[in-house]
Amino acid sequence: MGVAVSPRALQTDEAGLIVQQFGSMTAENAMKMGPIHPEENRYNWAGGDSIAAFAKRNNLKLRGHTLCWHNQTPRWMFTDAKGDTVTKEVLLQRLKDHITAVVTRYKDVIYAWDVVNEVISDRPDEFYRNSVWYRICGEEYIARAFEYAHAADPKAILFYNDYNEINPVKRDKIYKLVKDLKDKGIPIHGVGLQGHWSVYEPTEEALTATLEKFKGLGLQVQVTELDISVYPKEHGRRERKPEDADAAYTTEREQKQIQMYDMIFRVFRKYKGTLTAVTFWNISDRSSWLDNFPVPGRKDYPLLFDKDLKPKKAFDEVVKF
Ligand code: G3I
Repeated sequence: MGVAVSPRALQTDEAGLIVQQFGSMTAENAMKMGPIHPEENRYNWAGGDSIAAFAKRNNLKLRGHTLCWHNQTPRWMFTDAKGDTVTKEVLLQRLKDHITAVVTRYKDVIYAWDVVNEVISDRPDEFYRNSVWYRICGEEYIARAFEYAHAADPKAILFYNDYNEINPVKRDKIYKLVKDLKDKGIPIHGVGLQGHWSVYEPTEEALTATLEKFKGLGLQVQVTELDISVYPKEHGRRERKPEDADAAYTTEREQKQIQMYDMIFRVFRKYKGTLTAVTFWNISDRSSWLDNFPVPGRKDYPLLFDKDLKPKKAFDEVVKF
């Protein structure tokens, strides 16, 4: 069981909970392109190094996140000194240099990488997300990223990672992308299902269908960013509405969350051979990215530990079996 962490959390009482309750960590932001490589000739290793050092000190596994994404990518990556958009050749070389530097630095502590994140479009009529990477390189950067990562660390388990994986249309596109890469002999070893769910979704049928589908690939499957929002799932940021003031962790929301956590871990256990890890996105309800997404400043309660780092009733459902 893993958890996404920030360097700041490792300096607080959350550090004790991480060591006590989890066997693996993921850097929530510190190892992403923008934070770790802010300028072409400057890397900012401090945050990533502190997480890597904590993992070594406490004998925790470490997942790397993420080497190539459309978000949190520094502007310099796509532009030359005059501010013009770079060519495909230049961008692929920059991607190679970045991946080689980051993967090599953490070769002795990171066992798995989310190499490429969220390249599948949410639009039913579109296969690839129309990102700057795609506009400059077409789909080629995806396969190249896996080859660069494998060359830098042949032992690392390399994942493609995405969200909304329980949506049949999106799921089938993710499946096709990964199968095509595998069939072409690209070094891909696993699929990361983010698992940003809610007390309203997925259904047991949808979750089972998703795990059954990806089991068929013969690759590792991991749930990489699990959280169960107490609000209906929305995939886009929006303005606050008057009804968003209703943001308490009511008994009704707690009950729904207990049932959802119970169901998903019952299903996870059925796929023990295929599902090789489950990572929670953030540590406790003290602070979650969902406190500001999709609604800025609307408190959410998506995790198994409350703001005082105490196990919630949902925790009991997950650990009893
Ligand atoms: O570090 C800067 C800080 O210097 C500045 O003062 C502050 C105010 O703007 O921003 C800080 O950066 C924030 C960063 O988190 C670190 O806290 C960014 O604004 C904020 O956008 C960023 O949010 C992260 C988000 O990815 C970015 O898209 C969330 O913490 C992180 O949980 C979230 O994680 C993603 C996964 O990587 C991929 N899957 C979806 C998941 C949720 O969006």
